[in-house]
Amino acid sequence: MEILKDYSLKSLNTFGLNVDAKYFIRVASLVDIREIDRFIKIKKLPYLFIGGGSNVLFTKNFNGLVIKIDLRGIEIVDEDARHVFVKAASGENWDEFVRYCVNHNYVGIENLSLIPGSVGASPIQNIGAYGVEMKDFFYEVEFYDLTDGSVKNFKKADCHFGYRSSIFKNELKGKVVILSVTFRLNKKPFFKTDYGVIKDELKKLGVKELAAKAIREAVINIRRRKLPDTEIIGNAGSFYKNPVVTAEKHNEIKSAFPSLVSFLQSDGTYKLAAGWLIEQCGWKGKRIQDAGVHDKQALVLVNYGNATGEDILELSEKIKSSVFERFGVELEREVNVV
Ligand code: EPU
Repeated sequence: MEILKDYSLKSLNTFGLNVDAKYFIRVASLVDIREIDRFIKIKKLPYLFIGGGSNVLFTKNFNGLVIKIDLRGIEIVDEDARHVFVKAASGENWDEFVRYCVNHNYVGIENLSLIPGSVGASPIQNIGAYGVEMKDFFYEVEFYDLTDGSVKNFKKADCHFGYRSSIFKNELKGKVVILSVTFRLNKKPFFKTDYGVIKDELKKLGVKELAAKAIREAVINIRRRKLPDTEIIGNAGSFYKNPVVTAEKHNEIKSAFPSLVSFLQSDGTYKLAAGWLIEQCGWKGKRIQDAGVHDKQALVLVNYGNATGEDILELSEKIKSSVFERFGVELEREVNVV
């Protein structure tokens, strides 16, 4: 392991923000992580572990040690008549892992194709798209506990998964390093295609016989049309969560704004489409210098090239205020600000 100094993080965050880490290192094994843990504690350095850098907004240089998780490997660890248990190291790229599963006909996570980021980040915010959440196929996670140096395993119930949330985003934030995630995938076809746009895209593709490959293709087409490619325009996917409100609050907004886009949840609350709220406030496609709101999906903030994290944060606060003023709804960030 080699500690690098004044290291540029531009290519390591999908917003493409031009910030430096005072110190930078890559870790590729548990042994490396233990060593770094000792080093951080001796030097009392601020530290930040990063995966794919797809959910972080750097507002300044990081005056400490940034640790990039590079643990690799995918293996089948168990199977039964209906399932296969696939374990992936945290540093594996999420979409490459999805492609591997689809190619082997391990069914379940194909709806989560093309989500940027790493496998290790997937349980932290319980990534989701097109009617599927990672938790639906999650089996267990193995992590290093920075508080006592032990390695632990958590099953689904331990992780407190919720909408874009888990114990790792709350009580255990900053206290653990995820090492691997094991998924329980189906051997038999069991597809989720009830999300409207998926149905339409499959029809467009002329798919007669459903297969994980066809769903992956449909999802990739939809995402490419709606979401900016991080290689071309810096972004971190949805900047906010879709807010969840009481039925009472929902009905109040709906009577004032009948075209409100919302989804009834099983507990009687409503999830509101944040993209719709932002668009209604006139922000869609807006640009302030190099910070902007994507013209095809208002929930995505973009860096057209030379925006700073501060520029994007400032824009996001303006959006938040106008949504609150108009609808009385508080938007919550999905992206982590550092
Ligand atoms: N909408 C608008 N204007 C917009 C954007 C959306 O009116 O500019 C309305 C439309 O009616 C649309 C509805 O909002 O039908 C929902 O939009 P979309 O299907 O694009 O999904 P989303 O709720 O905006 C969520 C996830 C995405 C995920 C998609 C697809 C969150 C925070 N985001 O977005 O996840 O890809 O559903 O399932 O839940 C991410 O988390 O980074 C992410 C990209």
